[in-house]
Amino acid sequence: MNEDIEKVLIAEEVIERRLDVIAERIRSDFAKEDSLQVVGILKGALVFMADLLRRVPLRLEIECLNVASYHGGTESSGQVDFLDVKLPEVKGRSVLVLDDILDTGRTLAAVSEKLYEMGARKVKTCVLLTKDKERAAEGEADYSAFEIGDEFVVGYGLDYDGKYRNLPYVGVLKESVIG
Ligand code: XMP
Repeated sequence: MNEDIEKVLIAEEVIERRLDVIAERIRSDFAKEDSLQVVGILKGALVFMADLLRRVPLRLEIECLNVASYHGGTESSGQVDFLDVKLPEVKGRSVLVLDDILDTGRTLAAVSEKLYEMGARKVKTCVLLTKDKERAAEGEADYSAFEIGDEFVVGYGLDYDGKYRNLPYVGVLKESVIG
């Protein structure tokens, strides 16, 4: 798997150190809340979510949402589909949404809007990566661990055609792999 990678963009130790900082911010910002509902966006947020939330010593409730926007390629399709039959109960609650990457911004905008529609009191967003580009949908993430250029990345939860999510770092694929 590592032989398919052109370059490592963010090494595992760098991610780990940065997660300590983001986790402490979240702990301190939500310390006074009675309860915090975390909603992770599958499948990209899986690895980030597991590593980040174990560093946050609050009584979190964790749910996942299954959302699709890429459909296999390296360009966002522009359409955000909710694949879940049942969405988490968020009425009157503070919700922290976790995703792997803020790209066009459509996913986080659509999920936040949906959660507000469902009666959430406050919705905050947190991503591992923010792509440095113009957004199609309004809004930046409230917490972002790293900013990267406008290039397609894999690893640490991010996939190409379903693969590479288990790489412990964020990297760029060789062109020969993308074809
Ligand atoms: P939007 O455009 O809605 O995108 O902000 C969010 C979702 O798109 C996927 N995405 C990527 N996946 N490498 C990936 O493997 C990338 O460089 C990339 N950029 C966007 C991702 O699923 C994210 O949740």
